[in-house]
Formats: sequence, C-alpha cells, structure tokens
Amino acid sequence: AVMVARRVRSRRRWGRVVRELKELEEVCSTSVGRLRQVVDAMAVEMHAGLASEGGSKLKMLLTFVDNLPNGSEEGTYYALDLGATNFRVLRVQLGGKRSTVIEHDVDRHPIPQYLMTSRSEELFDFIVSSLLQYIERGEDSELSSSKRREIGFTFSFPVKQTSVSSGILIKWTKEFAIEDMVGRDVSECLQEAMSKRGLNVRVAALINDTVGTLALGHYHDEDTVAAVIIGKGTNACYLEQTDAIIKCQGLLTNSGGMVVNMEWGNFWSSHLPRTSYDIDLDEDSPNPNDQGFEKMISGMYLGEIVRRVILKMSQELDIVGPVSSKLSVPFILRTRLMAAMHEDDTPDLSEVARLLKDILEIPDVPLKVRKLIVKVCDVVTRRAARLAAAGIVGILKKIGRDGSGGITSGRSHSKMRRTVVAIEGSLYTRYSMFREYLNEAITEILGEDISQHVILKVTEDGSGIGPALVAAAHSAPVVDSVQ
Ligand code: GLC
Repeated sequence: AVMVARRVRSRRRWGRVVRELKELEEVCSTSVGRLRQVVDAMAVEMHAGLASEGGSKLKMLLTFVDNLPNGSEEGTYYALDLGATNFRVLRVQLGGKRSTVIEHDVDRHPIPQYLMTSRSEELFDFIVSSLLQYIERGEDSELSSSKRREIGFTFSFPVKQTSVSSGILIKWTKEFAIEDMVGRDVSECLQEAMSKRGLNVRVAALINDTVGTLALGHYHDEDTVAAVIIGKGTNACYLEQTDAIIKCQGLLTNSGGMVVNMEWGNFWSSHLPRTSYDIDLDEDSPNPNDQGFEKMISGMYLGEIVRRVILKMSQELDIVGPVSSKLSVPFILRTRLMAAMHEDDTPDLSEVARLLKDILEIPDVPLKVRKLIVKVCDVVTRRAARLAAAGIVGILKKIGRDGSGGITSGRSHSKMRRTVVAIEGSLYTRYSMFREYLNEAITEILGEDISQHVILKVTEDGSGIGPALVAAAHSAPVVDSVQ
C-alpha cells in the first residue's frame, strides 16, 4: 500500500511539472503576430527616443560617428576593449586598401571579479597596467617612445557622448557596478590614469562595441546599416539621418547621418512575453526595472532563467532533496552550459546527465527529466532568439528597409536594397540553435521575398578593430555639431 501511494504521488507530481512546462511554453510563445507587435513597439520607441531626451526607455544615444570606414583607412592604432569578462589591449594595423588584411595583436586579461564592483581608480589602474605590460613585452617600442600615440577605447556601456572621443557614463549594465564612475567622463578617467603612469597617449575614439561592429561591418561591406551584439549583454546601433534626430536640432555632419547607439537592452514593451521567472530574476538583480529586453535575451541571463525554472521543477519532483544542490546558487548555470545541454545530441542525453552531475551536483537524473530540462532550454532560447529577431526587424522598419512603404507588391521586390546587419556575440556565433531560431524568425516576420535582401553577417571582433577604424575615419575633424 505504501508503494502504491508513493507511485501515485510521484505520478501526480510528474503531471504537475508537465503542466507547468506547458504553461511556460504558452507564456513564452512568440507567434509571428506577437513578434510583429514587438517590431512595431521597437520602431515606435526608437522614434520616441530620438524625439526627446528621456522620451523612451530606449536612450538612442548619439555617437558623433558620422563617417563610417570604407576600406581606405591606414595607420597603426591601439585599442582597448572593456565590456565583458576580459579586458583586451590590441594593436591594429590598417593597410589602406580594402583588400589588405588588418593585422592585430591581442593581449587578453581576465578582469578580476572584485574590480567590477570596486572603485574607478582601481579599474583604470588595472587597465593602464595591462597596457604597460603590453608595451613592456617589447613588441611596441613606438608606444613607449615619447611620440604621442592615438588610442581607441571600446567601452561597452551606456555613455552620453560629448564628442567622438569623450562621453559620460550613464549607468553600468551587465555585471559591472562601480558607483563613483557614474556621471564621469570615461576618456578623462583613462587619460588621467595614463598620464599618471607617464604614458603619452591620446584617446582618439570612445565607442560602444556595437559601433565598433558597425564600423568593421561597413569597412568590409558598405551596405551595412546596423550592428547587433548578442553576447553577455545585447545591444544594437544603426546609421540614422541627422534630421530624424529631433532631440538634437541643428546637428550637422558632413555625411548627413550619424550612428545611434540604441542601448536596446533597456527596451520594454507590454508585448514582451514575460514569465514569473523573469519577474523574480529582475527583482533579485542589482538593477531592477532596467535592461528588461537584455534580461530576456542575452548570455548573462539565459542560463539563469533556465536555472530558476529547473530549480522549481526539481523541488516539485523532489530530485534535489531537502538539502538543496548547487542548483540554488544564482548564476551557476552559465549560458554556455545550458547551450551544451540544449544541443546534446546523444540518444540518452548523457551530456545533460554529466553536466547536471558535475556542475550542479545532481546525480542520477532520470531520462524523462533530462528531456524536460532540454525542453526548458529550448523554450527559453527560442523566445530570446525570436525577440532579438523582432528587434532587428524593428530597426529595419524604422529606416525603411523592411519592405513596407511601396515595395511590397509584385516584382518590385527586386528593387529592395541589399541590407546588411553586422552581428556579433557568442549567442549568435557559437550557439547554433539560437542562430537558427533567430534567422528563421526574421524570415517569418519579413516573408521570404523581403528577407532574401536582408543579410545578417557575422562580423568578428568589431570591438577590437572597430575603435581603430573609427579613430582613423575621424582623424580629420569632421563632426560639425552646433548643438
Ligand atoms: C550592454 C551594454 C551595451 C553593450 C551591450 C553588449 O547592454 O549596456 O552598451 O553594447 O551590453 O556588450
């Protein structure tokens, strides 16, 4: 009788968990209809963010980059790249002819966790020490000589630019939180730290990683109009006409355009399919109500959403027992591991079993539960990829490259201009299920006829090479702003 009761109980539990999974799937559903609503909301918010300062959760930040590289740039530039787990120092050599290979030399330094929440002085000391180490390795006598050199700085956080080479940090995102830095000029901090150590270097460009990606994309292919990053964080930038930037009346550039850093990670719309797990994650985060789109899409959060779902399910199924496993440790399930579980193609999901055991310390998870976990990964990733696709189409809509506006009928599709979006970040480049879902959703939203003119082009290391390109493309004073 005890056995029977136990079996009945366990069947009931299983039924409940399966129902929950179904519910999760429903709440996360991203039908084309819903995605189109997100597309529209994105385009509307872009307008609002361009109309007035604070007009939208989308900041639509000016970058003062009005001149995208075209392949003719030359010179040697140094670049610093801060924005994710590693800090990098690079030397980029631009050959001057499109066909010339760009040489770049990279030094990578993992950023110690404590520095991400310490004080700005400590962070910049670390940055400049890394630069000095690069010089001391002796590979670059030029940089250490008294000759003044130019450096490009990729700083992948929301910055209110005051010129192409300076700007004020608005807030931190991802895992950084150095309070005394907010509101300060990023280039000035760097410049100060460099002069303190006797380095004669001028910051010639201060850019977001998306801008670097757009610059590199455009360097290779002049049909590139926007760039998207889906890595630890997510964001996009694109080329806008200056007269559409209403909040900055009288902005004049030689090209009539300017790159706008959208900071789309902070996009929000009631059309986004949000679950109780998203709400809890947001509440527990250091920046509640911020970066809502990013929290549903980027690599920093996907694994964490999945962890929350499987924690709840495993408690219900009683597979972790009263003493909770590592599964209750926030952020322990990295998106990289989640992707590995999702893409486990062994018939018995042995990789899932191994990861659950090794990383989360949950041994002997039955196959049917492993299948359930894979399904959870699928639901969360599919939603993320499809929302990112809707974001991209939102940009295309804003700039009239979504096929609407008179070119939707008959053979005139051939007139739709080739439109390239540079894309970068590990979710897109290294997670094939994510990539497939994203591409599929773009085609679904735009339709085959239009989407064949839209090319998502992986553009690797825009955040490393991009700042050198921007520095080179702006070495003559070209921005003529009368703000
Ligand atoms: C975060 C940052 C943004 C950056 C993105 C990708 O969203 O706020 O500036 O572009 O991450 O690194």
